[in-house]
Amino acid sequence: MGSTILHIQASPSGTRSRSIDTAQHFLQRLRERDPTAEIRTLDIWALDLPPFDAAMIDAKFAVLRAQAATDEQRRHWQRAVRLAQEFDAADKYVFSLPMWNFGLPYRLKHYIDVVTLPGENWRWSAQEGYTGLLHGKRAALVYSSASDYPVGLPAHARDFQKPYMRTWLEFLGIVDVVELAVAPTLAPPEAVAANLARARARADELARDF
Ligand SMILES: Cc1cc2nc3c(=O)[nH]c(=O)nc-3n(C[C@H](O)[C@H](O)[C@H](O)COP(=O)(O)O)c2cc1C
Repeated sequence: MGSTILHIQASPSGTRSRSIDTAQHFLQRLRERDPTAEIRTLDIWALDLPPFDAAMIDAKFAVLRAQAATDEQRRHWQRAVRLAQEFDAADKYVFSLPMWNFGLPYRLKHYIDVVTLPGENWRWSAQEGYTGLLHGKRAALVYSSASDYPVGLPAHARDFQKPYMRTWLEFLGIVDVVELAVAPTLAPPEAVAANLARARARADELARDF
């Protein structure tokens, strides 16, 4: 009760987005279950993301190696740290995720590169290797794609979207993950409507225990 849910919208299509539409349906169910939940929306297309350029990379390695950082490195790093801390603060995550060229929209990858920071949400030591620092959190991944990539069919091998998201979340320590897909969306209108309805029904099921 009273949890903070961060809805990360990776589709730029707003009200026309199938993944956002389905995620909002899921969030509406969560709101009905827990009216005290605080739901924050993060439209990554409207976010001012710092470039992950040479200055940021130098800053990252200065932090990793506990070296003295320059003022510019520190400034750059602080922008990323702020975004990472906003991300880390949520208890639960809902992602709206269109597939783009078999993977993620580049803007989401940019966001991930900025917020995945040593000392904020993961750490490394010679003794322990990599350790994710985000514990006790949950994530719901709401995918959408023109084609379908079902387990057991050859097309599944071309799906780099879902394995990437699972791997990244696990790296951060988020292992309690549920998924649903609105797919295929490149189909006759009645088939797309049926796929949307199926995704909403799945969202209803998942929302009972999220
Ligand atoms: C740049 C771009 C690349 C895409 N690449 C793929 C792809 O590799 N595989 C696929 O099935 N659909 C692909 N699509 C289609 C979208 O995944 C599909 O339209 C999806 O339903 C969009 O989700 P949304 O409505 O939530 O934005 C691509 C769309 C765009 C704009």
